Amino acid sequence: MNRRADIIEKAENLAQEAEKVPLHGYGVQARIQATLMVSHTLETIVRNMDNDPLPPLEKALDHARATIRASENILPELDDTISSSQLHKENNVEDKMVSVFENAWTSFSKGTYEHSVSLVTQRLKNSGYDETFFSGKVCFDGGCGSGRLSVALARMGAKEVVAVDLGKESIEYFRHILKELGISSVTLVEQDITNLSRWEDQSFDFVASNGVLHHTTNTLDGIREHFRITKPGGTFWLYLYGKGGIYWEVYDIMKRIVHLLSPEEIKGTLKNWNVREGMIYTYLDNLLAPRTYYHKEDIFEVLEPLGTFEWKHAKGMSEIDDTEILLSKKHACLIYGDQGETRIAIKKIS
Ligand SMILES: C[S@@+](CC[C@H](N)C(=O)[O-])C[C@H]1O[C@@H](n2cnc3c(N)ncnc32)[C@H](O)[C@@H]1O
Repeated sequence: MNRRADIIEKAENLAQEAEKVPLHGYGVQARIQATLMVSHTLETIVRNMDNDPLPPLEKALDHARATIRASENILPELDDTISSSQLHKENNVEDKMVSVFENAWTSFSKGTYEHSVSLVTQRLKNSGYDETFFSGKVCFDGGCGSGRLSVALARMGAKEVVAVDLGKESIEYFRHILKELGISSVTLVEQDITNLSRWEDQSFDFVASNGVLHHTTNTLDGIREHFRITKPGGTFWLYLYGKGGIYWEVYDIMKRIVHLLSPEEIKGTLKNWNVREGMIYTYLDNLLAPRTYYHKEDIFEVLEPLGTFEWKHAKGMSEIDDTEILLSKKHACLIYGDQGETRIAIKKIS
């Protein structure tokens, strides 16, 4: 018996049943509740990768299905005349993705924001990029979002950070943060990061794409562009999702249950339930944003015709964050695939 296949079948059955639940009123709550249960369990599993992930996952999927079934009993009693005006209006994949992230962080508390900055600062430092490295450097942060990475680079002494994003609201949010933090070395640009033609070849010492390009429809072009603007001797910092694990496979099935709901409504519901900010962010990111998956070789194949380079794994703060530690865990390959997440620092030679 293939236990993994059984879990995937359970997830499929849950999604099929949940997709029939009305997209308004209590039906929305039931969909969010069921997916939150599974998401919470997936997030617990990745913090304990020496433990078998399948039993807790099976239990969560059973509980989620029970929630959906219970809602089917209650729903006939509820008013079904409520309009579906809150349904997700953006049809375009990019608009939807931008809206997901803007909802995810534009109401972060100061504490949550500073925590997110310290996380990326530590990732960089553990990987060998500290104040000595960044002092006087010109950096590029593609898909800066809330700007946590740019803030880390600026605080570590970068001379200039060009921070780019497609999301107007994210840019405005970040502009406000920069003012509040008194940081003047970051330049904000609204631009699609899969086309960087406004910057010349070899312009930046450090080019970061931290969890961004896998959300675009043009990932490989984006990778070429980021490498092109990296100076020889400079570094291209690249974080992408890895291939083949049960974690993303289950999230992708769960997405079907909530993809028609608006990020605003989901966020409002989770806030009302007092779900912590970090978990709201994870939920919106993992259940609503489009994404694709990569092995390291997929990246190298794209870069090899463009120049020579060396690479190393980026170091992280925790086992999930650090691919080498992650892969030493007993169930890591089942959870994240045989290479773990694709988190690498590429040094461009020529
Ligand atoms: C998961 S967030 C990562 C944000 C940031 N790099 C970090 O580590 O906190 C993805 C960000 O990429 C932006 N993004 C996605 N596709 C983009 C594109 N084609 N051009 C510019 N920004 C994009 C989104 O608007 C969002 O702010």
